[in-house]
Amino acid sequence: MAQKELGVAVVGAGRIGTLRARLAAKHPCVGFLAVSDLDPARARALAEQTGADFHCGNNFEIIERPEVNAVFVSTPEGEHAAPVRRALELGKPVLVEKPIALSLDDADDILATLKATKGKLRIGYSRRFKECFLRAKEQMIHGRLGKVTGGLARVYNSRAQTFAILKRDPHATPVLDVLTYYVDLMCWFLEGNAPVEVVARGQTGIFKEAGYDTHDVTWAILTFADGAVVNLGISYALPARFPTQGQSDRVELLGTEGTMLIDDDHKDHLLFSEKGIPHPYVPGHQIEMAFLGSNTAGDWALGDFWGPLGNETRAWLDHLVTGNPTAHTTPEQARVNLETTIAIERAIATGKAVRLPLET
Ligand SMILES: NC(=O)c1ccc[n+]([C@@H]2O[C@H](COP(=O)([O-])OP(=O)(O)OC[C@H]3O[C@@H](n4cnc5c(N)ncnc54)[C@H](O)[C@@H]3O)[C@@H](O)[C@H]2O)c1
Repeated sequence: MAQKELGVAVVGAGRIGTLRARLAAKHPCVGFLAVSDLDPARARALAEQTGADFHCGNNFEIIERPEVNAVFVSTPEGEHAAPVRRALELGKPVLVEKPIALSLDDADDILATLKATKGKLRIGYSRRFKECFLRAKEQMIHGRLGKVTGGLARVYNSRAQTFAILKRDPHATPVLDVLTYYVDLMCWFLEGNAPVEVVARGQTGIFKEAGYDTHDVTWAILTFADGAVVNLGISYALPARFPTQGQSDRVELLGTEGTMLIDDDHKDHLLFSEKGIPHPYVPGHQIEMAFLGSNTAGDWALGDFWGPLGNETRAWLDHLVTGNPTAHTTPEQARVNLETTIAIERAIATGKAVRLPLET
């Protein structure tokens, strides 16, 4: 029988913190659960929903609880650094949501604490835990494509979700907040082959009109150390009632001895309902047609949560108990992802190629 050896703290009781806490509460090795939020009422509501043992409005209080030996940091993008550092200082392993931070200074502070404490930190790039991408990584490990010469990854979503993200943090642009998943995937697939240069263009439109300093469409070309060229693109500005409920994407890898095409648009699973379909991320938003399976985190079905974020959460808790190797993004990889997305935005702003690593 499993021993309940994990005590879990979930910092941030929003959409993703709620999923982490609900999944942790169901994990057979979790014997203690605590949740916090800047808004104590949210922490209380999540504690009631999950049967958590403790809740409060002070992040450090839950991290410092003696029963806690694993910490999820699910705060907004610009609020990751302080709770991550506190947990590491106390020697507690952390899974923090992507991106590791919104600035390289914050990321470097986290990395410095990690080095000083010799702690354990992973970053929640849950696309890695989508089955099509796990399968793709397996084929890359077997070398079935030969030498990869290039590829592409592009992702689309409706503007309904983007406005919800920008409202939370106007600096969490589609490139820093979402294209980062595809930078992560490409760097993971091409592991050992670092990105060295970015050229990019972006076009403004509805987001700029609404007062946000970001683009409706971004296209970038990333060159890797061995010369491989990868096209990365994002538009999170599709009409609000477009059927994608998270991410419609396409990932292609081209090699000297093979090709891999991953159609992850989700046009193969349509739901139409005259009664309306609630959006999984944007409260109060309804659509009549949905690409089922496009919700980034995954989906509830039969009382359990299935999909990338479910796999990722369970895999991290399992990893803590078993000590087995895991595919979660490392802090060094997350820093490369952040640096590369910052370079993409810099390349758009200057119209020039930007070399990586960035000069500080
Ligand atoms: N892996 C995925 O599938 C996925 C999907 C969406 C978002 N995310 C990431 O998850 C993180 C959170 O996103 P979300 O959608 O849950 O946001 P959200 O806005 O739904 O929730 C954030 C919560 O944090 C609370 N909060 C704000 N500042 C805080 C602080 N300093 N301390 C404690 N609580 C604080 C807010 O009150 C809110 O309850 C982000 O980093 C985001 O990029 C991951």
